[in-house]
Amino acid sequence: MTAEGIRASEIDIHTTAGKIAELERRLHEAEHAGSARAVEKQHAKGKMTARERVAAFLDEGSFVEFDELARHRSTSFGLDRERPYGDGVVTGHGTVDGRPVAVFAQDFTVFGGSLGEVFGEKIVKVMDHALKTGCPVVGINDSGGARIQEGVVSLGLYAEIFKRNVHASGVIPQISLIMGPCAGGAVYSPALTDFVLMVQEKSHMFITGPDVIRTVTGEEVTFEELGGAHTHNSKSGVAHYEASDEEDCLAFARALLSYLPSNNLDEPPVFPADAALDPVPELDTLIPDSANQPYDMHTVLGHVLDDGEFLEVHAAFAPNILVGFGRVEGRSVGVVANQPLSFAGTLDIAASEKAARFVRTCDAFNIPVLTFVDVPGFLPGTDQEWNGIIRRGAKLLYAYAEATVPLVTVITRKAYGGAYDVMGSKHLGADVNLAWPTAQIAVMGAQGAVNILYRRELAAADNPDAARAGYITEYEDTLANPYLAAERGYVDAVIRPSDTRAQVVRALRALRNKRASLPPKKHGNIPL
Ligand code: HXC
Repeated sequence: MTAEGIRASEIDIHTTAGKIAELERRLHEAEHAGSARAVEKQHAKGKMTARERVAAFLDEGSFVEFDELARHRSTSFGLDRERPYGDGVVTGHGTVDGRPVAVFAQDFTVFGGSLGEVFGEKIVKVMDHALKTGCPVVGINDSGGARIQEGVVSLGLYAEIFKRNVHASGVIPQISLIMGPCAGGAVYSPALTDFVLMVQEKSHMFITGPDVIRTVTGEEVTFEELGGAHTHNSKSGVAHYEASDEEDCLAFARALLSYLPSNNLDEPPVFPADAALDPVPELDTLIPDSANQPYDMHTVLGHVLDDGEFLEVHAAFAPNILVGFGRVEGRSVGVVANQPLSFAGTLDIAASEKAARFVRTCDAFNIPVLTFVDVPGFLPGTDQEWNGIIRRGAKLLYAYAEATVPLVTVITRKAYGGAYDVMGSKHLGADVNLAWPTAQIAVMGAQGAVNILYRRELAAADNPDAARAGYITEYEDTLANPYLAAERGYVDAVIRPSDTRAQVVRALRALRNKRASLPPKKHGNIPL
């Protein structure tokens, strides 16, 4: 076949050879549905075509396409003159690391990747396939949105997709890769999925664009500032990963899948791992003598997870809490950890929502949650209170309390007040709670406690500073340690920091067959 394909007039479709040639002609046309000009424009923007992306994402040669020959049936606005095969979206299934995955990729080179009836039906079909067969669905978004010429029909199909996103939520992993425009109501399909990955400078998400914003509010904002990868990774929290380019984005999606099961009835894949449980002396010197001095919680994760590997998600949003995946003895774990390097690891609205969402993701997909605690409390301020830290912070409590996967918590230093309860405490249902000897488990820090408990004595003291120092020492010696909690079994053991990996390994081994369930109900009513 020539690069241009075979012309229909050259084929005698009344013979068997002709019928086969006709099929090949149509498939060739489908594979080159976008004009050469549109493909060139796509490449000039540093973007791959939909087919190139699918090929780069899936295991080589594994792609099985659905509906390659589907075409729209619209006649209005001259659409009947152009009926490209595939209708602007490439759908089907293949494998990633040998495991089945359903995929759709919007093709910007055909009608700007806009979603019409047939385009929408193709996505619906591949989502139904994923749900029916229990495999993840990965959507690659690059689209001008609803196909204007097809009117309400395209809106209807969007809603069909949203409904499936919701029904698939917590059943199969759903990952959205934003590799071009994603605007208006179209953003809500990715928003409903488990992970949203964006590419720097190449992808944009917004409900209303810069022009509408300028007209309505008078604000001047660029596409990148409004809805680029950095904005949604750092400001809004809509996106979970800011990829440097398309290959990086596809690689991150593949890495995510390696930690996830194919569906909620399945277990995540298990990898061969080194069984050595040697102590890690570095951890014995990590915590500074001064409680006000920070340290990097990544160091702890690096010494507890297999090969020190931590696939952090949502890294640029609410950096005062870390969430991401790792493995322990080759098995997936979800990690939630306060980060003392950022806002001293306090919990604020963003951190609570980020961690709550992650705990629920892990719980839905049978991934144990490993929590590291060093939290001085909730972030004070009118901004936090007026924006709803009460109802929004409650989400994290809710997420831990409803989780039935194995929960292992390690308190490295501060666990104060309500934040102690929230961060995977025994009382909320954690299975194994460990504390380092540096743990301070109390209602509040020494300074605050002494100011409240000894207000009168301090006011009357000849030397208030000396008196305060004495009271602080007394408070720290009595309450700011792990031993009151250990006396009551709120922590199961106080461990040497250097033994943390060994203890976590043993805890997760012991919990491997954990079975727990919640009271039967239609669904809970998490404060949203
Ligand atoms: C039909 C569309 C289209 C659309 C783009 N095209 N968007 N066709 N419906 N929504 C076509 C263009 O006419 C053009 O066709 C081709 O796709 C490529 O588009 P360009 O404009 O040349 O590309 P570019 O300059 O890169 O600009 C990309 C763009 C722009 C920023 C996305 O195309 C754009 O603003 N499109 C409209 C976006 C929009 O308002 N969509 C509706 C949003 S509301 P030719 O033939 O010239 O190559 C929505 C509601 C969803 O989506 C609701 C869900 C509930």
